[in-house]
Amino acid sequence: MARFVLKDPFYKKAKEEGFRARSVYKLKDIDAKYHVIKKGDIVIDLGCSPGSFLQVLSDMVGESGSVIGIDILPTPALPRKNVKTIQADIREVDIVKLLGEFGLARADAITCDIAPNLSGIREVDDARIEELFLSVLNVVTDALKPGGNFIIKSFSTTVQKSITAQLQKKFTKVSQYKPPASRAVSSEIFFVCLGKK
Ligand SMILES: C[S@@+](CC[C@H](N)C(=O)[O-])C[C@H]1O[C@@H](n2cnc3c(N)ncnc32)[C@H](O)[C@@H]1O
Repeated sequence: MARFVLKDPFYKKAKEEGFRARSVYKLKDIDAKYHVIKKGDIVIDLGCSPGSFLQVLSDMVGESGSVIGIDILPTPALPRKNVKTIQADIREVDIVKLLGEFGLARADAITCDIAPNLSGIREVDDARIEELFLSVLNVVTDALKPGGNFIIKSFSTTVQKSITAQLQKKFTKVSQYKPPASRAVSSEIFFVCLGKK
């Protein structure tokens, strides 16, 4: 394993606190700042594996809430009663049917920590980021309740303006935020979208 990973304070902290990935601190920090998730919520986590978001979302929604995780890869089993995971490509999933199969109504919140495979070629990567964004937006359109909240990881790209504009059409408040656990060298940012119109 690369030395910078072992020295990373968030990686060390995640290991010590029993979280499956350091990204958990991004979600914790976003929620502390914007109050996205509440007790009793139904939450869909897109790109959930290995499952650190699921661990903390499970605590945030409590026993009366539910968390559904979706990932194209298998997610190691998480022994929590309020968490279910499925292996699927979010570009192809029928989200309304899936919620029905779990006996759930539409979601109160959706989180998305998916990163597309980046090539380093700007035009190719921007197209991949936009394609993924549009698939996620379809899930949000179909599965998120009016008034619901949405967090999506994105990257600083030439399509950022268009992504912002599309989110602003759908949500009352849209903020861009880079949590401390997000590496400074990465162009990663999060859109925090509150109150689906
Ligand atoms: C950065 S990881 C997510 C880490 C997760 N938030 C956690 O806390 O453990 C991104 C995930 O997105 C998944 N992913 C990428 N493309 C996807 C797609 N089209 N559909 C579903 N999942 C996808 C990857 O398999 C990967 O597990």
